[in-house]
Amino acid sequence: MTRLLHVVGARPNFMKVAPLLRAPAPAPVEHVLVHTGQHYDVAMSEAFFRDLALPAPDEHLGVGSGSHAVQTGRMLIALEPVFERHAPDWVVVYGDVNSTLAAARVAQKKGIRVAHVEAGVRSFDRAMPEETNRVLTDQLADLCLTPGASADANLRREGVPDARIRAVGNVMVDTLLALRARATALGMPERFGVAGGAYAVATFHRAGNVDDRGTLGEIVHALAALATMMPVLFPVHPRTRARLEEFGLAGALGAVQFVEPQGYLETIGLVERARVVLTDSGGLQVETTVLGVPCLTARTTTEWTETVASGTNRLVAPEAAAIRAAVDAVLGAPPAAAAPRPPLWDGRAAERAVAAMLGASSTR
Ligand code: UD1
Repeated sequence: MTRLLHVVGARPNFMKVAPLLRAPAPAPVEHVLVHTGQHYDVAMSEAFFRDLALPAPDEHLGVGSGSHAVQTGRMLIALEPVFERHAPDWVVVYGDVNSTLAAARVAQKKGIRVAHVEAGVRSFDRAMPEETNRVLTDQLADLCLTPGASADANLRREGVPDARIRAVGNVMVDTLLALRARATALGMPERFGVAGGAYAVATFHRAGNVDDRGTLGEIVHALAALATMMPVLFPVHPRTRARLEEFGLAGALGAVQFVEPQGYLETIGLVERARVVLTDSGGLQVETTVLGVPCLTARTTTEWTETVASGTNRLVAPEAAAIRAAVDAVLGAPPAAAAPRPPLWDGRAAERAVAAMLGASSTR
């Protein structure tokens, strides 16, 4: 029996762990699920456990929010006894959040093998906390499980030997393909009283965009202008809500419909029938590509270059004029024909990830 201990903590982790917990495996596997508690609001955590039918975590560390140092410090201290108690064969970490790096660091120090799911993905912007979390986690990991060839190449450039790299595919796509029909069945546009294909969805939460008053103001003005042309639904992350209030910008949103953060199924149900998505999320760039929905990413870099190559995603400077011009270009063009999905974005990434860990079990 191989014991896999999965560490998750923040919203974007939950849709990544779900397919691994269910993946068919070539040999017996026991799963242990640990939630650090980095995200704790019902809308940011519990709603995702429910939508994704995740089991209750075996361990919940309750670390909560804090400065980077406080949050990470609490995680390091709380994770050590958990790893000792469960003595896993592998600690499996996901994506790029603070919980990911903290867990990789503790496991590697304790001599437990680390597998990083979604390894090798890079924005090349060291100002993003997520970028350093990814680079450092990949250096610690015994197995870098990547979504595809460009991530493999990034790892090789950073000196990661081929023996530690396995291209398994995109686990977010596994979840999307498995749950899409349930998301569609919710009838989300109807719930919000908007016509399918004739509204926009906006999500913004990156520190680089929302913690700066000027940048957040530009985004708010672009959304308010778009809302004079079509309904704009804006599920607001707690970080963004706090900044809108602190900077006195909430009133400038005009007709934009400010809504609570949505669950996984609700989000997919809204996005799949949107005319355009405006975002700074990593996951939505991937999801809009698979769903064939035009996406404008208000950032200067992306870690998901495949989504730009596929023609669904476009980077746009987080400035009102640039966003407005990009929106006009999307609305002026007929919806593009669906591009083929990138290789290995086929719904079977988790199965390959588990097989890679089991195959590597006897190598150390
Ligand atoms: C984190 C991830 C980011 C990911 C995002 C998704 C890091 C470095 N960043 O950013 O990559 O895209 O999650 O949401 O790990 N808060 C609440 N309730 C919650 C969670 C957070 O109110 O359940 C508020 C707190 O005021 C907190 C702030 O949001 O201080 C930021 O939370 P934090 O976990 O530090 O980072 P995110 O911005 O959520």
